[in-house]
Amino acid sequence: RAEVVINGSSSPAVVDRSNESMKHTIQPASSTWRHNQTLSLRIRKQILKFLDAEKDISVLKGTLKPGDIIHYIFDRDSTMNVSQNLYELLPRTSPLKNKHFRTCAIVGNSGVLLNSGCGPEIDTHSFVIRCNLAPVQEYARDVGIKTDLVTMNPSVIQRAFEDLVNATWREKLLQRLHSLNGSILWIPAFMARGGKERVEWVNELILKHRVNVRTAYPSLRLLHAVRGYWLTNKVHIKRPTTGLLMYTLATRFCNQIYLYGFWPFPLDQNQNPVKYHYYDSLKYGYTSQASPHTMPLEFKALKSLHEQGALKLTVGQCD
Ligand code: CTP
Repeated sequence: RAEVVINGSSSPAVVDRSNESMKHTIQPASSTWRHNQTLSLRIRKQILKFLDAEKDISVLKGTLKPGDIIHYIFDRDSTMNVSQNLYELLPRTSPLKNKHFRTCAIVGNSGVLLNSGCGPEIDTHSFVIRCNLAPVQEYARDVGIKTDLVTMNPSVIQRAFEDLVNATWREKLLQRLHSLNGSILWIPAFMARGGKERVEWVNELILKHRVNVRTAYPSLRLLHAVRGYWLTNKVHIKRPTTGLLMYTLATRFCNQIYLYGFWPFPLDQNQNPVKYHYYDSLKYGYTSQASPHTMPLEFKALKSLHEQGALKLTVGQCD
């Protein structure tokens, strides 16, 4: 029985930033990639030993009550209280209960999406996952519009919405939330201290303006479980990125998984510059030692899974 080889070598990849992108040539989207159903099912089974996306996608109402104290996952000495608003927004049942989709798109935020023309293809997938409330309207041709689940790290409120300093920014965020129109809004509220107020502001806006979103707050064990799965497969990540978390969750409810906008390198395959995000001027944080992520290492693992047919990575133009 063939093993799943996720990381080609048994030692952690050494990141050579000078020509990292050169090492990651991926055949154009239209080439011979074939989905490997057997392997996808085997990966689903293996991941289920560590976590169950149906349960871990969100803490449910029955398991917490207002006033409960939670220790942050990455800052165990810091705590937060479960507020009345947070409690109200906890789902009663898993938003993924009994859900199965033929194909899913996970859209990362790399600038490699610009001029890709991938929007229409992305929108054909049965379930589309996006990260960190990334804008879609102005970039529809390259990233599509359909959104079934979108993540929101609390830091996004600072980075993209100026910490809601005035009415204009509050309105901007409100518009973005309204545009979600019934999708799942996935907020990692219990990960790291520092985001408490931001999560509270968003919760308040949603309740006050009766925004039509299905909120989800990942379980306390999710991050360690995901990390555990990848470490067991010799992918020595520090803290999984949102993109990797989404792939790991998606294996549970998606038959075929297509990744777009995953490219943590400053040059594309033709050595042209690539923006870190398709929509802002943020710089490459992954090169910093202080970054909690190991994106190029994650990419290497995803590329290996692409080559084995367990997922499909698109890093150039769509047909
Ligand atoms: N990503 C990528 N290459 C980039 C930028 C992002 O592969 N140049 C992927 C990563 O998997 C990332 C996801 O797209 O998690 C979403 O991007 P972003 O919003 O930038 O996530 P980060 O804030 O960088 O990381 P995280 O939210 O996981 O802390």
